[in-house]
Amino acid sequence: MVPSKMEKKYVFPIVISSLVCAFILFTSLNMGLVSSVNKINSIFPISMTQRKSGYVELKVELDTPRPPPPGPALPRFAYLVSGSKGDLELLWRTLHALYHPRNEYVVHLDLEAPLEERMALASRIDNHTVFSKVGNVYMITKANMVTYRGPTMVANTLHACAILLKRNKDWDWFINLSASDYPLVTQDDLIYTFTNLSRDLNFIEHTSNLGWKAGQRAMPLIVDPGLYLSTKSDIYPATPRRALPTAFKLFTGSAWMVLSRSFVEFCVWGWDNLPRTLLMYYTNFVSSPEGYFQTVVCNVPEFAKTVVNHDMHYISWDTPPKQHPHILNINDTDKIIRSNAPFARKFIHDDPVLDKIDTDLLGRENRSFTPGAWCSGKPTCSEVGDSNKIRPGPGVQRLNQLVTRLVMKANNGQDQCR
Ligand SMILES: *[C@@H]1O[C@H](CO)[C@@H](O)[C@H](O)[C@H]1NC(C)=O
Ligand SMILES: *[C@@H]1O[C@H](CO)[C@@H](O)[C@H](O)[C@H]1NC(C)=O
Ligand SMILES: *[C@@H]1O[C@H](CO)[C@@H](O)[C@H](O)[C@H]1NC(C)=O
Ligand SMILES: *[C@@H]1O[C@H](CO)[C@@H](O)[C@H](O)[C@H]1NC(C)=O
Ligand SMILES: *[C@@H]1O[C@H](CO)[C@@H](O)[C@H](O)[C@H]1NC(C)=O
Repeated sequence: MVPSKMEKKYVFPIVISSLVCAFILFTSLNMGLVSSVNKINSIFPISMTQRKSGYVELKVELDTPRPPPPGPALPRFAYLVSGSKGDLELLWRTLHALYHPRNEYVVHLDLEAPLEERMALASRIDNHTVFSKVGNVYMITKANMVTYRGPTMVANTLHACAILLKRNKDWDWFINLSASDYPLVTQDDLIYTFTNLSRDLNFIEHTSNLGWKAGQRAMPLIVDPGLYLSTKSDIYPATPRRALPTAFKLFTGSAWMVLSRSFVEFCVWGWDNLPRTLLMYYTNFVSSPEGYFQTVVCNVPEFAKTVVNHDMHYISWDTPPKQHPHILNINDTDKIIRSNAPFARKFIHDDPVLDKIDTDLLGRENRSFTPGAWCSGKPTCSEVGDSNKIRPGPGVQRLNQLVTRLVMKANNGQDQCR
């Protein structure tokens, strides 16, 4: 009598705790395993598919919500496109060539651009049927003073990062462009090619071999008047010079980059003090945009192993390099295409080479958007269809050649933070 009563007393908690255990087990299967299987799947596409479909079946039987479609989800990009005085038309064109409703865009014309030019951009964005409907183009209307080569440039980039993090929590990579940059592949191609990549990768061209930059960039102290003056003037030198740092190792490279969201969060949120300390260090550094992100990423071991040593741009420097790169024209078309890069610079307004890129590489007509599978309506792309549909084009082959080679090197730890 007594034992059976005791048993009854224990049956209830045992049943409850086994139910809880079963629930936790299935939840962890659904959340942890399925996503890690996705990752493994991209490495071992055939052998893992069977295992994965086994789990999916298990889930369907026990759980009503349908599982997500197999394979990794399509990525989203967050862009900053910035310009200065006289860049309105160039920026407008680049924005159209880059546009995709999945992505998030921040545009900025700096304080040197006249108020009328900035107002014109703001009203064009407001009036635009697609932009106002999708709501993924945001203009920084309270413009920043930006000095080329100065820390105000880095501050402006971080400002855009912070806005993008606040506006959309779903993007995967941040891409920093200027109005004089132009895409060489469609966004459908870029989204498709990046789908299988680890979301942790950072495309940052870098080296620790400072060469002449040690004496001419790292040791001089400069002041950026853009930090405190309301009219634009260039950086000026201060004395004395300073020694090279010993608390961290300096890296330098291209000012153009594709950054992972986790790295952008690390830089913007600042729960680790390094990004903040380095930002202050770089306040007095010549050409800080060519060193800040390189030095941060390479001095944090977790992030150093995510770096791919390329800036995803075709840029043609004169030899010896001058302050500004060579302006690309129609005679550079072959070199531009052969680079397999997704972006190129620097272009001037309405140069014929841009029309050639539009027709040959992007299929862009009538100053409209670069067409993609999302486009619908008449004329094409005047309305947004299904923004989760992707139509990969010939750009995928070019881009894949570049990206596959680079990512393989990075996965082997080659060419990383040396
Ligand atoms: C991504 O991986 C899937 C299989 O895992 C494959 O079918 C697809 O072609 C890959 N995409 C690219 C762009 O390589
Ligand atoms: C925007 O729309 C308003 C009202 O339709 C019009 O007055 C204004 O000229 C338009 N602006 C531009 C830049 O098209
Ligand atoms: C970001 O983009 C601008 C283009 O306006 C460029 O000049 C700048 O140096 C870039 N990089 C950084 C790190 O701010
Ligand atoms: C392109 O090359 C041709 C032939 O060499 C030359 O005549 C022309 O001026 C070049 N165009 C530009 C924009 O430099
Ligand atoms: C571009 O404009 C021309 C002439 O106005 C028209 O025939 C053509 O269909 C347009 N193309 C697109 C893609 O809308």
